[in-house]
Amino acid sequence: MINLQVKNLNKSFGGQRVLKDVCFDINGPELIGLIGPNGAGKTTLTNILDGALKPNSGTVYLNDERIDQYKPYEIARAGLGRTFQVTRSFRRMTVLENLYVPALAVGNEQDRKIVHDKSMEVLEFLTMDHLCNEHAQALSGGQQKLLELGRLLMLDPDVIILDEPFAGVHPKLMEVIYEYIRRVNDDGKAIVIISHQMDAIFSLAQRLLVLDHGTIIADGPPDEVKKDQVVIEAYLGVDEDEEENDAAASSGA
Ligand SMILES: Nc1ncnc2c1ncn2[C@@H]1O[C@H](COP(=O)(O)OP(=O)(O)O)[C@@H](O)[C@H]1O
Ligand SMILES: [Mg+2]
Repeated sequence: MINLQVKNLNKSFGGQRVLKDVCFDINGPELIGLIGPNGAGKTTLTNILDGALKPNSGTVYLNDERIDQYKPYEIARAGLGRTFQVTRSFRRMTVLENLYVPALAVGNEQDRKIVHDKSMEVLEFLTMDHLCNEHAQALSGGQQKLLELGRLLMLDPDVIILDEPFAGVHPKLMEVIYEYIRRVNDDGKAIVIISHQMDAIFSLAQRLLVLDHGTIIADGPPDEVKKDQVVIEAYLGVDEDEEENDAAASSGA
């Protein structure tokens, strides 16, 4: 059974406290939305969970293994993976080569035939196998997001964090991305989606976590969180501003 336990995480940059005693658990293959205003600390939390940053205090356990002091590749091996707000594929490599990289560089698998077969399996899952020899830079924004998801799947993570997976995706492709997120979740993986796009969050998430000024202010079923007065005041009430910011971020990406 997948289990992530985040306990009392604190992170400061200079004198600024960006995460304040953040606590939450993930039990099993949940599909969770992590929302909150710009600057709330969502990306910082993700950077701590994937090992890019160390917390000032607090612990993270993944499947009963303490991971908060691990290096990023050790955390990837332990079973937690994330995508980035701005995709980080190797643009001059082919789609297939992009999938080889995490398996050969981070994974335990050194047998090229096994890595190749696994890559093709992932591409078939994403119905991108026909694109295997294309250069990553030739892909559309939505396909780049799928490739990034594919790179994560190469390491078979138990917990996946998607940081703004819909930024820069053409509206027509949104449903396609939803479908893959649901399929990865049905495949038994826990997924945390960070997004300002409330339509996406409310169509996908079974549970919402709301982060505001570094504090988790709500954690529960979307329908209940939506009605929570504290959440409305902190975040949902300023939805229009956030959408403007998001549109600006997407056009810049
Ligand atoms: N590396 C850093 N150095 C200094 N301040 C940072 C750094 N990363 C994030 N911050 C600050 O931490 C706060 C939270 O940022 P971030 O985690 O990116 O929020 P979110 O992803 O919720 O928009 C912001 O005030 C941001 O300026
Ligand atoms: Mg962010």
